[in-house]
Amino acid sequence: MRGFPFSRLRKRNGSSCAKWAASNEKGKPLTAILITGANRGIGLEFVKQYAGEGARVHACCRVPEKADALNAVEGDVVTHKLDVSDFGAVKALGKEIDEPLDIVVANAGAGGKDVGEFGALDYDAFLHLLAVNTLGPVATLEAFAPHLKKAKGKFAAISSILGSIANAGGFAQAYSTSKAGLNMALKAYAPVFADTGVAIAPFHPGWVKTDMGGPEAAVAVEDSVAGLRERIEKMKPGAPLRLTDYQGNEIGW
Ligand SMILES: NC(=O)c1ccc[n+]([C@@H]2O[C@H](COP(=O)([O-])OP(=O)(O)OC[C@H]3O[C@@H](n4cnc5c(N)ncnc54)[C@H](OP(=O)(O)O)[C@@H]3O)[C@@H](O)[C@H]2O)c1
Repeated sequence: MRGFPFSRLRKRNGSSCAKWAASNEKGKPLTAILITGANRGIGLEFVKQYAGEGARVHACCRVPEKADALNAVEGDVVTHKLDVSDFGAVKALGKEIDEPLDIVVANAGAGGKDVGEFGALDYDAFLHLLAVNTLGPVATLEAFAPHLKKAKGKFAAISSILGSIANAGGFAQAYSTSKAGLNMALKAYAPVFADTGVAIAPFHPGWVKTDMGGPEAAVAVEDSVAGLRERIEKMKPGAPLRLTDYQGNEIGW
């Protein structure tokens, strides 16, 4: 696990560690955000958009030294090495980061193609998929709950319409199972956050042009993330938990 690369931050921003105080030069309070799976796709776009607006972004990815696109993003971006299926590492990062977080985006996810087809399922691969897509976000929520409580922040899990049991279509079964588990976990643990000021919710980002969504996907990653950010902005603590897409359309559980 890498510590905070302050030297890199100074170089990138041309400023000192004073930048890490609770406000920027214009006196506007900084928003502190943490994103998992931040090196490509939807996660990377979250980093670009939030950092572009002056937020302090804790960008987590599995191999920071190879995350060229992430490392090229300008702004208060601090990278952290994190595999969300390593629950001990998630917990340790929670202890390492010592500031309130306004937004945590549990975005890291895998498609599960390696699980294979029914009749020849690879259960080790299936378990790993559940570790990444279902338990990874739960571990992220648990590790950063104290940071969110301090900021009365928002926890957004990037789920999928494929995790909707109401819409189950009989394909991508392992992936769908993992996202249904994520949706249920959020609903099941939501009462833990009653009266804490923390809002939590799962979101479907649309069918997005990323490595996972493929080039035929319907939604540009910029539009998906812009929409998701609007949804996150509107999250309210204590509101009934709903599964919605990046445009705010409700999806049946
Ligand atoms: N694209 C779509 O159409 C679509 C639709 C519905 C939901 N989603 C969800 O949106 C989220 C982002 O997907 P995407 O489209 O941006 O996919 P992507 O381009 O394939 O990116 C996936 C990201 O998750 C990271 N990741 C995978 N396993 C990880 C692990 N064990 N620990 C930490 N990071 C891990 C990847 O890191 P590496 O580079 O290290 O692999 C990568 O940064 C996922 O949760 C996905 O299920 C996507």
